[in-house]
Amino acid sequence: MSIKKGCILSALILPALLTGCERPVSFESDVMPILQASCVSCHSGSGEGIQLTELNLTSYGQVMQGTKLGEIVVPGSAASSTLYLVIDHKVDTKIQMPPHHDDKFPQGEGKPLSTEQIAAIKRWIDEGAKNN
Ligand code: HEC
Repeated sequence: MSIKKGCILSALILPALLTGCERPVSFESDVMPILQASCVSCHSGSGEGIQLTELNLTSYGQVMQGTKLGEIVVPGSAASSTLYLVIDHKVDTKIQMPPHHDDKFPQGEGKPLSTEQIAAIKRWIDEGAKNN
């Protein structure tokens, strides 16, 4: 009760980001729109991302299924999750996602995700990668 009141008070005073009182990240309303906008052009249907890796990013079930090599999300640990590592450029530049490097894929080059988008996906994984 008093914790909740504190959150509401500090949310009024400080930007929500600084308070640590944000609501959990939602797969449906936060993560999915990012994937839709920046990833499914290649990771759905006959896109090249699917062709090379079998990674389909069109639903929670598919995201959790991962690539032909295995899972890309380790619930609770973004640092161990390929999904996070490729968007935050913690991998070889050749596999950063969406691709925005010199070796362009036939279907093109994407814009890197924004800091906020990367942070949202990281937090969603760290919060347990729920189907919420
Ligand atoms: C322009 C097409 C394209 C877009 C857009 C794209 N991808 Fe990919 N993705 C690929 C291709 C092609 C591969 C296979 C790369 C390879 O094998 O070198 C791949 C591979 C991956 C892998 C597997 C990496 C591994 O090493 O196992 C992940 C995870 C991934 N993409 C996530 C994403 C995410 C998340 C987005 C959106 C932020 C995204 N991709 C956007 C084409 C794309």
